[in-house]
Amino acid sequence: MRQPSLLDRVLVEIDQSLRTVHARPPVTERPNPARQVTATAALDDTERRLSGRLMRVNHAGEIAAQGLYRGQALTARLEGIRAQMQRAADEENDHLDWCEQRLQQLDSHKSRLNPVWYWGSFSLGALAGLAGDRWSLGFVKETEDQVEQHLKQHLGRLPANDLPSLAIVKQMQEDERHHGDQALAAGGKRLPWPIRRLAMPLAASIMTTLSARI
Ligand SMILES: [Fe+2]
Ligand SMILES: [Fe+2]
Repeated sequence: MRQPSLLDRVLVEIDQSLRTVHARPPVTERPNPARQVTATAALDDTERRLSGRLMRVNHAGEIAAQGLYRGQALTARLEGIRAQMQRAADEENDHLDWCEQRLQQLDSHKSRLNPVWYWGSFSLGALAGLAGDRWSLGFVKETEDQVEQHLKQHLGRLPANDLPSLAIVKQMQEDERHHGDQALAAGGKRLPWPIRRLAMPLAASIMTTLSARI
């Protein structure tokens, strides 16, 4: 079988980005945790809008996760690491789908900046991959830790009666912790503090602020 050329790979990535941003994930592995919620209380308009904003931010975060893992897979050195990154992107598809379903139920919309989040994260992921597999895994570990903290905050901010959103965010938080642990176990290096404490929180706050509104 012929090896894919650079052009083949670029076209595959463009195709993948369009599917991620504009279509529903083709394969999801687990049922939506919100399905386990049997008793649902109606949300008033203020609660519905708040939930919509928070779930839009979470959906945008999952779009970014797809870009990040695809970018990392593209430049990973070891085949095992490449496979692990692709596997993680597949698992994150569940989160993407659950958030999108909830946004529709809340009569809300996805962030219009999703292509920006996807390609921005893709570029960062590709750069992390170029820096070497252990740095790339360290970047996953730090990202997942920060996302987990962010989701914890959302558990306190979502309306207490929005049980479906809470069920989704709780499951995502558990999964992100697991992804972070896996990256560390695979040999992830701890990133330098200016990246962990300054650059990443700054990028995250720009993304959460803009995706809540646009
Ligand atoms: Fe996720
Ligand atoms: Fe994750």
